[in-house]
Amino acid sequence: LPYYVAAAVLGYMLGAIPFGLVITKLSGLGDIRSIGSGNIGATNVLRTGRKDLAAATLLLDGGKGTAAALLGAYYGPDVMLVMAFAAFFGHLFPVWLKFNGGKGVATFLGVMLGVAWPIGVFAILCWLAVAFTLRYSSLSALVAAAASPVVAWFIVGPDVAGLAAMMAVLVFIRHHQNIARLLKGEEPKIGKKKPEDG
Ligand code: G3P
Repeated sequence: LPYYVAAAVLGYMLGAIPFGLVITKLSGLGDIRSIGSGNIGATNVLRTGRKDLAAATLLLDGGKGTAAALLGAYYGPDVMLVMAFAAFFGHLFPVWLKFNGGKGVATFLGVMLGVAWPIGVFAILCWLAVAFTLRYSSLSALVAAAASPVVAWFIVGPDVAGLAAMMAVLVFIRHHQNIARLLKGEEPKIGKKKPEDG
């Protein structure tokens, strides 16, 4: 049990680092939460016009998920699942931001890469396929998140599928405003600025 508690706490701490916010602040761009959708993720960092910072946000938010999974895997498959989910949870609900974190897409992809890399690669390819054809970051994320648990179920097994499903549900909940905008045809395409909310 102490392993699980330690894994949960460590995973959470890692996941709760809001890289998008830190990177944009350090670069003198002000508070990313007052720009575009207000989200702290790579998609919104891209709305500042800084592709380099968006890429860094994507890699670090994803990387912390991968790191948590790999670190946990060292202590066994169950510790890996706990630590991976804790990192994802920490990204969405970081204590430092009064539990108002990101939407979890980069961290979802990073976690899947660390937990079961073929599913991670599949999820990234899903994201890219939708992003290149339809150009909505949020829709790409929703498709990737929804497909991952299904594919994980058949290729890996129920544990990884369960983890992917729990994260996918949270990704959908976090995207409720994006979903509403998509349905109204008001969601901005990748790289376009967006006036309010998130
Ligand atoms: O990665 C989050 C993305 O799916 C949506 O971000 O800023 O457009 O709400 P945003």
